[in-house]
Amino acid sequence: MHINLKTKIPGPKSISLMEERKKHVARGPFHSTPIFIEKAHGAKVWDVDGNQMLDFASGIGVVNVGHTAPEVVAAIQEQATKNIHSSINVLAYDGYINLSKKINEAVPGDFAKKTFLCNSGAEAVENAIKIARSYTKRQAIVCFDHAYHGRTYMAMSLTSKVKFYKHTFAPFNPEVYRAQFPYQYRCPTCNGNCSASNTNSNSNSKAISSTKQTETFRSDLESKCEPCFQSFVNMIQGQIGAENVAAVIIEPVLGEGGFIPVPIGYMKSLRKFCDDHGILLILDEIQSGFGRTGKMFAVDHYGIVPDLMTLAKGLGGGMPIAAVTGKAEIMDAPPEGGIGGTYCGNPVACAAALAVFELFEKDKGALLSHSEHIGKIIAKRLDSWKKSYSQVGDVRGLGPMQALEFVKDNNTKEPNKELASKVAKYCYENGLISITAGTFGNVIRILVPLTISEEELEEGLNVIEKGIEASL
Ligand SMILES: Cc1ncc(COP(=O)(O)O)c(C=O)c1O
Repeated sequence: MHINLKTKIPGPKSISLMEERKKHVARGPFHSTPIFIEKAHGAKVWDVDGNQMLDFASGIGVVNVGHTAPEVVAAIQEQATKNIHSSINVLAYDGYINLSKKINEAVPGDFAKKTFLCNSGAEAVENAIKIARSYTKRQAIVCFDHAYHGRTYMAMSLTSKVKFYKHTFAPFNPEVYRAQFPYQYRCPTCNGNCSASNTNSNSNSKAISSTKQTETFRSDLESKCEPCFQSFVNMIQGQIGAENVAAVIIEPVLGEGGFIPVPIGYMKSLRKFCDDHGILLILDEIQSGFGRTGKMFAVDHYGIVPDLMTLAKGLGGGMPIAAVTGKAEIMDAPPEGGIGGTYCGNPVACAAALAVFELFEKDKGALLSHSEHIGKIIAKRLDSWKKSYSQVGDVRGLGPMQALEFVKDNNTKEPNKELASKVAKYCYENGLISITAGTFGNVIRILVPLTISEEELEEGLNVIEKGIEASL
């Protein structure tokens, strides 16, 4: 057994620290568990009361290579003794260059690429938009329903969910337009029938799980989602004018929005539309990158090449670092001094990120193979829950980036946020850290460290299963 609880959760030390937190810390940052951590390693965490737990959250999809991966820790320690901060703008260092080179080589595209490093996902999104506008000399940015891009003003403006990401913070940035996301389970245009318009057979389909929704509904992740795509085109033509659009930004798999992959056919149509109209396609892979979907990047499932990509989370193995990467001529559009920041591409964070890349390269990519393997185990288990529990309305995902969406009734699809919260609470009270997601808060997303053993994974999945049963 990998879960070993010594106290009721939360334990006395966590409870007392929570009191202190409430006194001294602004209430804005949410907490999905009332637990305070002492240490973590691999897929295990130990709280301040000595309880050993399993982690299916990975610090919101960050420690893909496992908590405190020895190689990452060693790289941090070594770099910290040499140079913690000198600012790339003042005294440059090779780590920044080596990491940029690694990223340029890792992302798709048979052309010269360049990279800009920064500190957080939101900052990467901000800079991607600045770069896109600078290059195209256009202003409009198109984003999607259910999107999450971060909490700074542009990133928040691009984000869809109001409570609590945007509530009380208006006004938002201008020239941001929102299109309908191809969310087949709840598609207002075709109610999931767009698979009928699917004419695009693609060999990548094996990498993507498709899921029966009801007797009549089948989520088709190869679909072109033509009616939905047409609504995107109509929106651009009717409200903006394609010639005014600088960029379209999309998460290939929605993160906070509930782990919904963009169907392959839709993504291809999007790429073509952008090409036809001189619009840049930005893929936000902040949550879906670094092995999270069983491939290095989610885009590797799609067979398309974006103009720009935003990366963060898994990149630093736990250190705060992010990147904008893409076509060299686009990345070079802002003038010297146009993008940057004091801490951007911190040397210790660069060393950690280089160690992360080495871990992905090690043993001929064994970590990615393991990620793909555990993805299949998770998908199989989720499929079985969909069959067993009528309140599990949809299960979906790409590789191990899987989620289950709870509904009150499988026909009305009324979101069941209460059930998702109950299951998540049952999980942490029984030693499994899990987090919710989705516009309606009715989704449990699975974000395991990709190094997790099969035994740990099964034990954690058993807790979720018991949690569903106990919460119905
Ligand atoms: C897809 C996506 N974009 C952007 C962000 C923002 O990243 P950060 O929290 O590092 O600012 C996130 C964070 O969850 C994300 O999932």
